[in-house]
Amino acid sequence: MTDTDKTIVVVGTGYVGLPAALLLAKAGYDVVGVDINENIVRAINEGVMRIKEDDLQALMDEPGVRANLRAQSTPCEGDIFIIAVPTPLDHRKKIAEMSYVDDAVESIIPFLRPGNLVIIESTIPPLTCRERVTPMIEKATDLVIGETLHLAHCPERILPGDIFYEIIHNDRIIGAMNEEARDMAADMYATFVKGELFKTDDVTAELVKLMENTYRDINIALANEFDAVAETLKIDGREAITLANKHPRVNILYPGIGVGGHCIAIDPWFIKEVDPSNSRMIFTSRLINDGMPARIASKIRKAVREIDNPKLVVLGAAYKPNVDDPRESPAIEIVRLLVEDGYDVAHYDRLIDGMEYESLVEICKGADMLAILVPHDETMAELERTRAEVEQVMRTPLIVRYQ
Ligand SMILES: NC(=O)c1ccc[n+]([C@@H]2O[C@H](COP(=O)([O-])OP(=O)(O)OC[C@H]3O[C@@H](n4cnc5c(N)ncnc54)[C@H](O)[C@@H]3O)[C@@H](O)[C@H]2O)c1
Repeated sequence: MTDTDKTIVVVGTGYVGLPAALLLAKAGYDVVGVDINENIVRAINEGVMRIKEDDLQALMDEPGVRANLRAQSTPCEGDIFIIAVPTPLDHRKKIAEMSYVDDAVESIIPFLRPGNLVIIESTIPPLTCRERVTPMIEKATDLVIGETLHLAHCPERILPGDIFYEIIHNDRIIGAMNEEARDMAADMYATFVKGELFKTDDVTAELVKLMENTYRDINIALANEFDAVAETLKIDGREAITLANKHPRVNILYPGIGVGGHCIAIDPWFIKEVDPSNSRMIFTSRLINDGMPARIASKIRKAVREIDNPKLVVLGAAYKPNVDDPRESPAIEIVRLLVEDGYDVAHYDRLIDGMEYESLVEICKGADMLAILVPHDETMAELERTRAEVEQVMRTPLIVRYQ
């Protein structure tokens, strides 16, 4: 059997699973996408791309890809099983919510055969492969991980909005307890990844993924903290950061409205979960970034405090500019806080389903403030083009950009 004669079962066909499934189908594998969401299954079988990226749509439209890819709501036998289901945060306990991974592993257990490879692409706390997935499989089958069944953790690093490019060109970490699993996984990824493939053990791979997002989170927290200090000192925090960055070895990020999305706001907690006593800076950064929506809401309140019954138009609900993903979005939290306070808020985002609008001029009629929380390129271009008109239709021409 050549490698691409194999059947790959991809469990979870969202932002991570579907692009991988498409590229594996393009590489020639027989690919079965499995998702508990019937709408997603139907969309894949009908060739409808739910992720708004032209290159992914083009891939989906290729007859060769369509011929090699089918979707269904339950797993089946295969050679390689990729698990790409959500690992959100349990917001109360601040630990990984592992029920999706547990369910996905349970669902493939009846189909596992000697020699199969199971790859976890979901982001998971360190030791999940060894202490959670391995015992689950070994208790339910006669298979032994590292001997008759192979298990690898190959975390995903894609940037939503640029998934197609990144899934192919990013370097990739391949972690497993045994060399055969590493080699099998590397052979599969090599069929579409142009970045380098780095092999290591499973625990290192688990931690590396979390370190990457924690590094980002801490740097964002530092920028937000500098900005708060600048505000206390009544100076412009952005200008101060720009000037500090003139130092040849300094590269401070710019402050924002908080951290959202499926990764950066969540993954640092998975490190704290396994080693709280060594995660003090990680924990503090999380608190700083999670406190940003309240800070921004209070800035907005201050900006309109002189206006009677202010009408606010808020732009942006995605978790960051130029993406269509509202998960863990600080902008949504800011609006929630303002609405809770009784403010009249109209919230729009052209990239988010159900929050679209015709034109800035239209939605700003009679408004007292236009607060831009998420500066999508197209939003800013439209504002630049129509700013004079927008100001004219507003009751109070107050336009503030918060990141
Ligand atoms: N989105 C990203 O940019 C990104 C980047 C790197 C890593 N990750 C990680 O990848 C994992 C998946 O993230 P995502 O963004 O693709 O999530 P997603 O919500 O877009 O997709 C996950 C899919 O899994 C399906 N699902 C849930 N339980 C299932 C089950 N038991 N069987 C079959 N399907 C099931 C859901 O219906 C959904 O379609 C997460 O651990 C995430 O942290 C995401």
